[in-house]
Amino acid sequence: MRILMVCLGNICRSPMAEGILRKKAMELNLPVTVDSAGTGSYHVGENPDPRAIKTAKQFGIDISGLSARQISENDFTEFDLIYAMDEENLRDISTRVSDVKQLKKVKLFLVASGERSVKNVPDPWYGSMQDFVEVFKLLNQACDRIILSIKAELSGN
Ligand code: 4NP
Repeated sequence: MRILMVCLGNICRSPMAEGILRKKAMELNLPVTVDSAGTGSYHVGENPDPRAIKTAKQFGIDISGLSARQISENDFTEFDLIYAMDEENLRDISTRVSDVKQLKKVKLFLVASGERSVKNVPDPWYGSMQDFVEVFKLLNQACDRIILSIKAELSGN
């Protein structure tokens, strides 16, 4: 199972989501690969935002070595699931697909995870460290549910 996390810059939300889901998959020994990308190209080649790195580190996850990239055509064949962090990302990703099969892979992350209180992962870019911590916790809870559904799917349930 190959999963791609997508936000705007690929330096705040999606690299944290990538690190979180990868760790959970490893802990459960599941054959899941996780990557992330941005819809925009402004930060291509950059490491995650220092606040995202610091927040993830506080929760035992090292994302300091990740490097931002922009989503590409290949991703729609390389990945089984493409999770958009917010509805704007979902729209941007959807305009890039070339067929219905690819479109079916694209989902709004929180809604797909079963989160009921909020649809969009807030963009913490203009926020404080506290905003990053809150986003991390939201991502972490959603990834807990997503990894369980993947585990069930992989075991045929
Ligand atoms: P991300 O956050 O989409 O979660 O990586 C952002 C990072 C940079 C910008 C916007 C959002 N920016 O406008 O440069």
